[in-house]
Amino acid sequence: MPRVLRDKRIVVGVTGGIAAYKVPELVRRLLQGGAVVDVVMTPAATEFVGPLTFQALTRRPVQVSTVGVWQGEQAGHVTLGAQADLMIVAPATADVLAKLAHGIADDAVTLTALACPAPLIVAPAMDHYMYRHPATQANVEVLRARGVTIVGPHHGPLASGMIGEGRMAEPDELVGAVRQVLGRQGPLREYTVVVTAGPTREPVDPVRFLSNHSSGKMGYALAEVARDRGAATTLVSGPTCLAPPYGVRRIDVETAAEMAQAVRETVADADVLVMCAAVADFRPRAPASEKIKKQTASLVLELEPTEDILASIQRPGLVKVGFAAETERLLEHAREKLERKGLDLLVLNDARRTMGADTAQVTLLRPGQAPDVLPELPKDEVSERIWDAIQLLLELRKDSALG
Ligand code: CTP
Repeated sequence: MPRVLRDKRIVVGVTGGIAAYKVPELVRRLLQGGAVVDVVMTPAATEFVGPLTFQALTRRPVQVSTVGVWQGEQAGHVTLGAQADLMIVAPATADVLAKLAHGIADDAVTLTALACPAPLIVAPAMDHYMYRHPATQANVEVLRARGVTIVGPHHGPLASGMIGEGRMAEPDELVGAVRQVLGRQGPLREYTVVVTAGPTREPVDPVRFLSNHSSGKMGYALAEVARDRGAATTLVSGPTCLAPPYGVRRIDVETAAEMAQAVRETVADADVLVMCAAVADFRPRAPASEKIKKQTASLVLELEPTEDILASIQRPGLVKVGFAAETERLLEHAREKLERKGLDLLVLNDARRTMGADTAQVTLLRPGQAPDVLPELPKDEVSERIWDAIQLLLELRKDSALG
């Protein structure tokens, strides 16, 4: 569970578009993260998804009417917005964008939005021509200039049967946007971080490569939590099946050499480098230019070492975090790596149990300190713990710079 959602009050405004069918999933994901979610709907939205669906998910009343429900001393129709940490309108129709841009408040969604001083996210969803219409574009610009976060819409098949720009962003991306907006004043807001993730692929011939089992999940979780805490985050990613995290700059690479190049470029103005990628240690010395045929009875590949990226980056002031994926004599090998690569923090894990899994059991090692053995945890919680440790290092660094 990402911590940034925990106990946050989020109002989800649902308006009348077919994409409304995806919103229960968004609500479910926010609830899973520990947020308190209230849903408000326009009457048109209830034609697509019943209020009962949201009521059952949130266990809270769903507001559809603009006629305020008095809750104790407070008028329900304005209280929700006033108490929220964030409001998200998904899907946002062209009509609702226009109303939001002009302060019209004639339904439960626009009224709540007008009475809500918290940050607003909107996820437009509509027909391509409606979205591209100068009136809608002008409304989007008004909202953007006012600080509203606009997520999507994306290009793809639309309800009209057309293919064009107008598809609502998927719940995954919307959750990412909620997390980023909630966290933008977070403890890492003044920092720039680079995280690497996934495996690398070293070509053998045009159709084959050497690689490893890394899924990229740990590195992606680290990039997401850095973003949740307000850091300007770059993710240098080897090939994975994972979607780019919202609000994170992702640079895709394939080989160790490409990763080394991307890290060198991005780390130049970074405060923290977290090397979570499972970089190949060897690559074929001379990849074949054509597909290797199987006629030969045996095949010997000559390998040469790749550059050790982490060891090669030496910049005073940069916090360097490494991972040690070991299969035996874990602590001994990890301590040796901590020293050899000049690291501030090393995350040790048992490669056989961690690679590709959703959970990890890691030990945090710092120079001159006793190992901090963490229990087996979901990778996003491991990521939170790692950033707690990095934050401590950054604070110490700041204190020693000041003192
Ligand atoms: N690493 C790197 N460049 C490489 C290999 C590894 O930057 N060519 C980084 C990894 O991202 C990780 C750390 O170094 O943060 C340790 O990686 P690991 O594979 O555990 O160790 P190696 O240095 O490759 O040593 P060995 O294979 O002998 O365990």
